[in-house]
Amino acid sequence: MRATAQRPVVIITGAGSGIGRATATLLARQEFDLVLVGRRRGALEDTATGCRDAGATVCLVDGDVAERATADRAVDSAQALGHLEALVNNAGIARFGPIEDLAPPDLEAMLDVHVRGPLHLVQAALELLRRHEGSVVNVTSVAGVIASPGRAAYGMTKAALNHLTKSLAAELAPAVRVNAIVPGPVDTPIYGTLGMDATELARFQGELVQRTPIGRFGRPEEIASWVGVLLGEQGRWVTGALLTVDGGRCALA
Ligand SMILES: NC(=O)c1ccc[n+]([C@@H]2O[C@H](COP(=O)([O-])OP(=O)(O)OC[C@H]3O[C@@H](n4cnc5c(N)ncnc54)[C@H](OP(=O)(O)O)[C@@H]3O)[C@@H](O)[C@H]2O)c1
Repeated sequence: MRATAQRPVVIITGAGSGIGRATATLLARQEFDLVLVGRRRGALEDTATGCRDAGATVCLVDGDVAERATADRAVDSAQALGHLEALVNNAGIARFGPIEDLAPPDLEAMLDVHVRGPLHLVQAALELLRRHEGSVVNVTSVAGVIASPGRAAYGMTKAALNHLTKSLAAELAPAVRVNAIVPGPVDTPIYGTLGMDATELARFQGELVQRTPIGRFGRPEEIASWVGVLLGEQGRWVTGALLTVDGGRCALA
């Protein structure tokens, strides 16, 4: 239980599914109030139901993180709820394939969601985060650390977010801490967006499991719990960290 009556507020992007939903549910139990951001309002509503059951006040912002206006709406909503203490830049999309097939709109979309979106949100939230000794967690990927065929553009944008994490940690300390969680393969709806048929997807996921020493996909809750650590009391002396949570995936690289 917190010492003060007022619950701090966290903004979570990509909160309508997967890792974002698990993070929202965990942080609601960790006594945060929540601003949930994503494009599908219905998905955000489903996440919000579980968070309200855990006692949180929840505000929904349906919008695209590529647009600065979405970041401004999220921060305005946070201010209306209470004091903004945390930001989780989790929204993501995956566009995999050979580099010769990479379509410019797919590259732009990944740069928007993985780089411009987090930048917009940090810029919009900075004054409030500074005021409340706030903390940012960026959800990146092992693809931003290790090279895999077909994932050059996705990995490049995640590597940019890893670098942004370290750069902002140096620039914003001591007022604001900035860290990243670097997940390996996690069982979420993102795999349904890769454009693979069932056979291709089963083969792809089987290969990922083979390259993961623990021998299975992670669960969204196994990522969310580390977001909770970085945002909580145990994370107070941690900034600029790229925390790999990957079932050992990077150990085999
Ligand atoms: N699952 C894995 O194996 C894995 C591994 C490493 C890293 N990650 C990263 O983990 C993060 C969460 O992904 P996930 O696996 O949980 O997949 P997911 O269930 O597909 O979640 C991604 C979320 O991002 C939101 N989103 C996408 N584009 C957006 C945009 N332009 N504006 C606002 N929201 C947007 C989506 O909601 P809307 O469609 O409603 O906007 C969705 O809820 C991503 O950054 C992903 O790259 C995942």
